Amino acid sequence: MSDYDVIIIGAGAAGLMCAIEAGKRGRRVWLIDHARKIAEKIRISGGGRCNFTNIHTSPANFLSQNKHFCKSALSRYKPADFIAMVERHGIKWHEKTLGQLFCDDSSQQIIDMLLHECAHANVTLDMETEVQNIAALSNGKGYRLETTHGVRECESVVIATGGLSIPKIGATRFGFDVARQFGLNVLDTRAALVPLTFQNALLERCKEMTGLSVDANVTAPCGKSFAEGLLFTHRGLSGPSILQISSYWEEGQELAVDLARGVDVFAALKEHKETQPKQEIQNALSDILPKRLAQAICEEMDIKGRIAELPDKKITELAARVNEWRMKPSGTEGYRTAEVTLGGVDTNELSSQTMESKKQAGLFFIGEVVDVTGHLGGFNFQWAWASGHAAGQTV
Ligand code: FDA
Repeated sequence: MSDYDVIIIGAGAAGLMCAIEAGKRGRRVWLIDHARKIAEKIRISGGGRCNFTNIHTSPANFLSQNKHFCKSALSRYKPADFIAMVERHGIKWHEKTLGQLFCDDSSQQIIDMLLHECAHANVTLDMETEVQNIAALSNGKGYRLETTHGVRECESVVIATGGLSIPKIGATRFGFDVARQFGLNVLDTRAALVPLTFQNALLERCKEMTGLSVDANVTAPCGKSFAEGLLFTHRGLSGPSILQISSYWEEGQELAVDLARGVDVFAALKEHKETQPKQEIQNALSDILPKRLAQAICEEMDIKGRIAELPDKKITELAARVNEWRMKPSGTEGYRTAEVTLGGVDTNELSSQTMESKKQAGLFFIGEVVDVTGHLGGFNFQWAWASGHAAGQTV
């Protein structure tokens, strides 16, 4: 008899959920992680309050080469299921915006809840445990793992080691390496939900605006757009709309930004021209944009003087600079600050019902290591819970 029925590598969001579900089925589960502290990404998520799900979760909120892959798991474990667990544990929560649910107090409550559920399901948990080797047993009925806690055999192995973002708190390529070891295809990865960076004059502009935010609408060449806040930083641009579009932006591409979402700037300035003709143009624009930004745009375009004296052509150009600013980022801040990783284990290699490898029986991949990446707003955790739950019913 093997030491465990299931060994789960990675005690983050997906690994914890899978361990709970498998444990509840009476499976003997060993959950291991190389980090010292458990579930650090949950702890730091949502500014310390964990945006643990989104009540509007639908497959449309996920990027993947196969956009249908996430449907099965998401339909069998819904935001309401996770909310029910949160409420059973007496954790107070609120909807912040756009269906995003956060803890009222602290993300630590979510970690404590998951650990409590693991203990209840008799899961054995060991932190600071590294896996040195994984091999399939010659009888085809399981796996042998060499770890820093000794050699263990099991029927099923679940890889829940996440993506590459924030290496400082334990992200590794481990999951992708295991996939390749067993002949599974791994799609190229890149940082996503990440601030965009600029160089030269644009960078200088952004630096001057650091801390300013506007309600924006940002559109990528693929046509995808996001209407949320935009924040100027000392490296470039951030804020929800920029993080969201970063998942769709490819190097070398231009983005179209409406810096005054919901305002027809040409119409607004024309009205100013009629009602307050003596007003300086930058002051008129300051009624629409933060003052520093309005000034900078007028300076950059060398547009000054009273609005009455400006020809309509100039007003059209100015309005276009605000409503249809076209800019080309030089890059992203990369995995150092990215919230997630795009790409990963090719979903064609996995069963969407169980997350098991089609080639390698008993080997499962869940969470961010798989090529399923959510939008900003609680969707990535919902995928971690749902994929962990799906595997937990089978392992
Ligand atoms: P996760 O990264 O959670 O866990 C992987 C685990 O595997 C880690 O504990 C790691 O130590 C371990 N591991 C890695 N390599 C290993 C190895 N070689 N051996 C053993 N163990 C190994 N999402 C969301 O929905 N709402 C939010 O509010 C946020 N906020 C947020 C903030 C920040 C700053 C970041 C970086 C990310 C978010 N996210 C988020 C994204 C979310 O945290 C992420 O998608 C999930 O944690 C992914 O869950 P996983 O379990 O797949 O990986």
